[in-house]
Amino acid sequence: MESLDNLLTKAAERLKKAKRVVVLTGAGVSAESGIPTFRDAQVGLWEKYDPAELASPEGFQANPKLVWGWYEYRREIVRNNIPNPAHYALVELEKKLPHTVIVTQNVDEYHRIAGNQNILELHGRIMENRCFKEGRLLKDNELNHSSIPPRCTCGAYVRPGVVWFGESLPSNTLSQAFNEARSCDVCLVVGTAGVVQPAASIPYYAEQAKAFLIEINNLPSALTSIMQVFLQGKAGEVLPKLVSLI
Ligand code: OAD
Repeated sequence: MESLDNLLTKAAERLKKAKRVVVLTGAGVSAESGIPTFRDAQVGLWEKYDPAELASPEGFQANPKLVWGWYEYRREIVRNNIPNPAHYALVELEKKLPHTVIVTQNVDEYHRIAGNQNILELHGRIMENRCFKEGRLLKDNELNHSSIPPRCTCGAYVRPGVVWFGESLPSNTLSQAFNEARSCDVCLVVGTAGVVQPAASIPYYAEQAKAFLIEINNLPSALTSIMQVFLQGKAGEVLPKLVSLI
């Protein structure tokens, strides 16, 4: 079993020569910011709910107040925390390497807040609001707060601006992400279980393009078997070490 230091050197050597880097991030990159990951045991009030039930149009229709409350609870956590060293290491990475794109499944906007420029947000933004009927983005002054959830000017409920189970991802963002994966020579996967499609296909497109695959995760994931290098550890600790070697 190679030491983490040897693996870090191997990964850094390959990144130094990289022409186009795709970084796929998941909830694990925000875990050390205090944002609960999606599949870790739900904490507190939400312990008895299956998150997939809460993060779906059916779940929202069945119990709009409950789902709205879950997102308000998650929004509060995002508001009260900040990016962690893993996010800032990716800002450094983008500065050091010519063409780096962050493809994220996360909805907390921490990559943008930390300072990355080239970001593709596959699952939307938790702080944004959309009309449940029209789908359009709503400005704060378009929300009628006389009910919970608030209502749009059209009378329908307001929903958070994230992609839910069973919904399609923003099509041009997704096709851009697939194109980047097909044309990258290094794909770095950080903090994702690799179980939710279509995001989990991105490392496979990179593999088909003969890219060098590197994963950082505190546990093996569904993607670990296709990696050239698996760096086991916390993103907030391993990513800064890796980027400092480039
Ligand atoms: P998960 O909660 O499924 O997986 C989090 C991954 O991060 C796991 O592999 C953990 O082992 C790893 N992890 C946890 N803490 C870590 C740390 N400190 N450092 C490194 N890795 C760590 O989250 P995702 O894979 O991101 O979609 O879930 C993908 C999507 O599933 C989410 O975007 C969400 C859900 O459907 C939407 O909300 C639309």
